Amino acid sequence: MYSGGLDTSVLLKWLQDEYGVPVSTFTIDVGQRDAHLDEVKAKALDLGAENAFVVDAKEEFAEKYITGSIKANGLYQEQYPLSTAIARPLMSEIAVKYAQEHDIDAIAHGSTGKGNDQVRFEASINALDDTITVLAPIRKWNMSRDMEMDYAEENEIPVPIDSGSPYSIDENLWGRSIECGVLEDPSVEPPENVHLLVNPISETPDEAEYVEIGFEGGVPVKLNGEETDLVPLIKELNKIAGNHGVGLIDMVEDRIVGLKSREIYETPAAAVILKAHKELEKYCSTRHENSFKPAVDQKWAEMSYQGLMFDPLVEELNAYIDAVNEKVDGTVNLKLFKGKATVVGRSSENGLYSYSLATYDEESTFDQSSSEGFIDIWGLPTKVAYNHHETKEG
Ligand code: ARG
Repeated sequence: MYSGGLDTSVLLKWLQDEYGVPVSTFTIDVGQRDAHLDEVKAKALDLGAENAFVVDAKEEFAEKYITGSIKANGLYQEQYPLSTAIARPLMSEIAVKYAQEHDIDAIAHGSTGKGNDQVRFEASINALDDTITVLAPIRKWNMSRDMEMDYAEENEIPVPIDSGSPYSIDENLWGRSIECGVLEDPSVEPPENVHLLVNPISETPDEAEYVEIGFEGGVPVKLNGEETDLVPLIKELNKIAGNHGVGLIDMVEDRIVGLKSREIYETPAAAVILKAHKELEKYCSTRHENSFKPAVDQKWAEMSYQGLMFDPLVEELNAYIDAVNEKVDGTVNLKLFKGKATVVGRSSENGLYSYSLATYDEESTFDQSSSEGFIDIWGLPTKVAYNHHETKEG
């Protein structure tokens, strides 16, 4: 599984030397900007790859994984929109499919032994086809950055220009994850050069911008009134919201392998869409649904963060999540200004808001006199328990 970066380029050469077998590469386009996939392919072939498969999976990523995450209000530890996490099972699926079609019996990935991605790739590949061996050389070889650079030089592996960058970056349509370098000190404010998608507040427009997102079945289908496929909709919204400084996350998260890590995320479109979706879902659901769904969503987020997307529980949670989302049709209006996205309007044919019940005007159909008896009964268990307690205390 080949990104074209330093790690996987070294890996590609090393695998051929170490095992003396033909090696093919998979590079999967999940919407990383500036991916230069033709160059990546040419580089892989240059470095001796037998085949260099490049797969455009943007649509599948959006239709299957991002959609699922939106309906689940997918946030890990209430902050991270799971952008890297939900791409890994898709990449694993594609790699397994290609491996099966081309009689490839082992898949290698370039993740380290400390991160989440090794778990996501391996747990997914093992679930999908446990006859395939998974190799994680970077976990074993203990090469430092400098050693990799030396290896690259010795083996005439072109070193990508960004290898000098102190950061480790993963990017796709749903977001950009940045770690390492100065970010490893959680007490230090991230330097402005870490963000590319989200404008620093000092450079955001001084005038607010409004966006309207239209949903059908919990999925965004319109942007500012125009029907738009999910991939271009997300791309456009990344630009619009990023321009207003929306979608920057600085968090310390609990990794699967037990340690905490400090990560910066840039997720402008996800920040806006998730906020809008949650608003509309709440608007179309009852109080009881609204109190239950967050527990399901949280479990869904944990399962996807923790690399267990192919566990039957996820399919079962999805059945519930999909059922709730059937009615989530309508539009949400948001105001983007100086780093904030604020919901300023929502409307839906399935909205459960009733003007005649809520209004304080004469048209009100709510019978306020019923509230009296209701409160007697509603407060009864609390009253009994409180007085029982008071009596016992003396
Ligand atoms: N911490 C995030 C996750 O586990 C992102 C990891 C992506 N890698 C990176 N090089 N920043 O989903």
